[in-house]
Amino acid sequence: MKTLPNFLLLIGLALTTACSQDIDPFEQVQQVHYFIPEVSSTLQVSGFPQPERNVLSEEGVLLGKKLFFDPKLSSNGKVSCATCHMPQLAFTDGESLGKLGVSGQALLRTSPTLVNLAWQLDGLFWDGGANDLESLNFAPLTHPDEMGANLEELVQYLLSSVEYRQHFELVFESELIQSAHISRAISQYVRTLISQDSKYDQWQMGKASLSDLELKGYQVYKNNCSSCHREGLFTDRYFHNNGLDKEYPNPPELEGLYQGRFRITSNPKDMGAYKTPTLRNIELTAPYMHDGRFKTLEEVLDHYQNGIQINESLAPQLIRGIVLSPEEKSSLLAFLSSLTDSVFIQKHLQLSN
Ligand code: HEC
Ligand code: HEC
Repeated sequence: MKTLPNFLLLIGLALTTACSQDIDPFEQVQQVHYFIPEVSSTLQVSGFPQPERNVLSEEGVLLGKKLFFDPKLSSNGKVSCATCHMPQLAFTDGESLGKLGVSGQALLRTSPTLVNLAWQLDGLFWDGGANDLESLNFAPLTHPDEMGANLEELVQYLLSSVEYRQHFELVFESELIQSAHISRAISQYVRTLISQDSKYDQWQMGKASLSDLELKGYQVYKNNCSSCHREGLFTDRYFHNNGLDKEYPNPPELEGLYQGRFRITSNPKDMGAYKTPTLRNIELTAPYMHDGRFKTLEEVLDHYQNGIQINESLAPQLIRGIVLSPEEKSSLLAFLSSLTDSVFIQKHLQLSN
């Protein structure tokens, strides 16, 4: 890891000078504190992946948080990341095709939750069009219908604040603020949005129990949903066509935006395929699907039961639909509620104040 040698060097320095002189080499040196977040076994992941060039430090995460909630980053001073990714809605905005950006124009997709993205390594955005957070962040920052920022002006704004200037210098050891630093800090914050304290997690760890109804719903989930919404992260982090549409129009000015993953891969199997969203906090993240077309979870279940549009790239396990009895449906909905993580929400609400 790139940062480790620096750290060792400082220890070495401390040891050598401590015996010869009374000078404390740490006196002037302000150091960041690197850390790795705790990861629950209930996420069923191994380790905490992060790029070598941008490992978490407490100070870096704090800076990222400040940037995430700062509307002054946008062209009109009114839109922050949190405008569309609100902590109380598990970092979504409750809109289908929201008009919350600086232009007031409707977006073409709905705002996804930002939880557990540290492990989303097979592509970010609904179609996997971004490879990592570090490169993704420039899109919302500069998009005319999101924050509309000009990166040079943004850097000037940050340089004009003593607080930001000192904070950037501490975290990135450079007096220059580069736009890459802005994105790195925000990425550090987003990687710490780890949702792993729901009732389901407590139950898995033997610290809480699920009701009979929820337990029945867990079985319904295992039998019908877990092949894609895989247990742990509740997503397989992959792309499927779940039968929302029969046809995929392609107005030239939208450059394939209605064609899902196909826009990225040009593979006919990916036509209309989108990233499996996590079911964690699903109660809080309505409306549903990449374009927010369903307002309720009942509508989602109706889609899987009666609404599947047969098309060439449809996921094979959905060809007959997912037929559930009314009892199975209500138990499934009860189980899905057990994935709401109020500990996570409370924690990030406090942090955003
Ligand atoms: C005006 C609303 C809006 C604002 C402001 C906004 N976003 Fe988003 N965000 C969206 C939408 C809509 C998408 C889905 C886009 C897509 O998939 O094509 C998205 C997607 C994302 C994703 C991908 C998540 C995933 O599961 O793949 C990340 C990460 C993200 N935004 C972070 C941010 C950050 C960081 C900021 C601030 C710099 C920000 N967003 C500002 C609306 C917004
Ligand atoms: C073949 C894989 C697959 C199966 C099986 C599957 N899903 Fe999905 N699910 C997806 C994909 C892919 C999406 C996103 C589609 C889109 O937005 O275009 C999705 C979206 C959803 C959403 C919307 C989430 C959001 O944040 O917008 C919910 C809720 C959901 N599924 C629940 C279920 C339930 C409950 C089951 C079992 C009854 C199930 N799914 C079975 C792949 C699947």
